[in-house]
Amino acid sequence: SGLDVLAKRAGLKYFGTAIDNVVLDNPTYISIAHNRSEFGQVTPSNGQKWMYIEPVQNKFNFTLGDQITVPAKKKGQLRRCHNFVWHNQLPDWLTGRNWTKPELVKVLENHIKHEAKHYYNDCIAWDVVNEAFEDDAVASLRKDIWLDVIGKEYIELAFKFARKYTKPGTKLYYNDYAIERVNNKSRAVAALVKDFKKRHIPIDGVGLQAHYTVGRAPSYDEQLATHKLFSDLGVETALTELDVRIQLPDNATLQAQQGAVYANSTKACLDADDCVGITVWDFWDPVSWVPSTFPGFGNADIWDANFTKKPAYYAISDLLRSY
Ligand code: G3I
Repeated sequence: SGLDVLAKRAGLKYFGTAIDNVVLDNPTYISIAHNRSEFGQVTPSNGQKWMYIEPVQNKFNFTLGDQITVPAKKKGQLRRCHNFVWHNQLPDWLTGRNWTKPELVKVLENHIKHEAKHYYNDCIAWDVVNEAFEDDAVASLRKDIWLDVIGKEYIELAFKFARKYTKPGTKLYYNDYAIERVNNKSRAVAALVKDFKKRHIPIDGVGLQAHYTVGRAPSYDEQLATHKLFSDLGVETALTELDVRIQLPDNATLQAQQGAVYANSTKACLDADDCVGITVWDFWDPVSWVPSTFPGFGNADIWDANFTKKPAYYAISDLLRSY
């Protein structure tokens, strides 16, 4: 049985993967990515981001997103959609101009409206706002175009627009990294959720990206406490971008440790009250984002370059089987 079959038996809604457009011409990659027994859910790694969806103002191009969502739908795989608002991968027309606040709010609404409508029947969840907090000790909001021009209100506006234009029942997520421990950043996200709940701003979930490093990953207990931090506020959680990078060169010991990190995170999600599912941020080492961002690190995924399942794959499947 594949990972999704086992995950469902263990009580999750899905076990999924991100899929990137740059490898869609690789038939072996595709056969695994759209194998529903392994992956009951997919997320486009890039294809639904602003620079690809609205490369020219008010001219929408859904090609790259559709390349992933259409085959997934045919195979019966759920889709998590990623993302409406982020500081990164924005088109030049958007970043290269001095907007007034009302203008940029309109741009934001128009983008969410068109993208939400196109993917109306597609998404069990949308990452509405991605990575809005800084990594600093006080976890203030990231200084990006949204904060500069609109102010912190951009976050709630995005969620309100998302609720207005997505299909009722679509789960609206705030998604971020380095919030998998109870720390300043995750507490800042929790404060945002609490405030939204109090003021009836729609929010349904918090995505813990879970980009981990062997030797530095949060423990099972730390992760369980973080899921609880959010579920106590009445939102669901999910591991939305799980991967575990290794400082190269790789060896059998490191691979076993990597497997333990994957298994711990899976276990914490299974034992948490409201963790609905797990998505790996690609399953195949050669397409991982890690080596280009963290030189000297890599092999973060669960299938190796030869499409052989790694110890991490078996660590996850053994853990799921034990439930
Ligand atoms: O599309 C071009 C392609 O035409 C060209 O041949 C190729 C050559 O390098 O580049 C392609 O664009 C790359 C794109 O990924 C598609 O593969 C960009 O250079 C590259 O910067 C981009 O990286 C993506 C990154 O987000 C951008 O910040 C990663 O694939 C993607 O996995 C990563 O995903 C993010 C999540 O959205 C949010 N959380 C963190 C996560 C990891 O950084």
